[in-house]
Amino acid sequence: MRTRYNAKAIDELNEFERYIKTKEEIQEIINENDNKKVYLEIGMGKGDFITELSQLDKDSIFIGVEVSPPVLALAVKKLKRYESENKVKLDNLYFMSFDAIDIASIFENGQIEKIYLNFSDPWPKKKHAKRRLTNEKFLAEYKKVLKENGRIEFKTDNRGLFEYSLVSMQNFGLKFIEVYLDLHKADVFNIETEYEKKFSPFGPIYKIIVEY
Ligand SMILES: C[S@@+](CC[C@H](N)C(=O)[O-])C[C@H]1O[C@@H](n2cnc3c(N)ncnc32)[C@H](O)[C@@H]1O
Repeated sequence: MRTRYNAKAIDELNEFERYIKTKEEIQEIINENDNKKVYLEIGMGKGDFITELSQLDKDSIFIGVEVSPPVLALAVKKLKRYESENKVKLDNLYFMSFDAIDIASIFENGQIEKIYLNFSDPWPKKKHAKRRLTNEKFLAEYKKVLKENGRIEFKTDNRGLFEYSLVSMQNFGLKFIEVYLDLHKADVFNIETEYEKKFSPFGPIYKIIVEY
């Protein structure tokens, strides 16, 4: 996702109280909320998905992770507008900016209930395969922070990334719970992401749910 650098937006991001900058800060939040489950979306973009998801379960903590601060700044802007228009405060929703590969340096072992990967960058060139968020290197880091039998829910419109992810997850030894070749034709609950709204008219949406 390309974004023009906007200094004011970055200032706003830094001032946003639910933008969490350090491991210590997020650990304090999780500890204060003792028995609450923690759900992550990695590569949240502008955050439509996790914003909607967080409202369905006020007794859990939702954390949107986005490697790009300018993109996260747009998500903060969008969330503020949403909260003001709807007169709500989604105080179980937090945002963080870090690279997914560093996940185990932020969260403790077994701390996360589920990870959502929505429309991850496909990195189509073979030489960039290691950057795909379903590469085995990433799957190994997610394993550290997910609870026993923790799950990944992955969606994409990219056939190549879908096939690659099936193989990668299979090779890693994950258990396939559900696989959809055309999610929008299936009668299942679904929250659409920004990319999904934009690209679903052009072809099927694939979805994989796996368990560790
Ligand atoms: C194609 S966008 C999809 C955004 C959103 N999930 C959606 O479905 O509309 C992928 C997002 O993942 C972020 N991303 C890519 N690699 C990442 C990484 N290693 N860690 C965290 N976020 C990453 C990108 O910056 C981008 O915003």
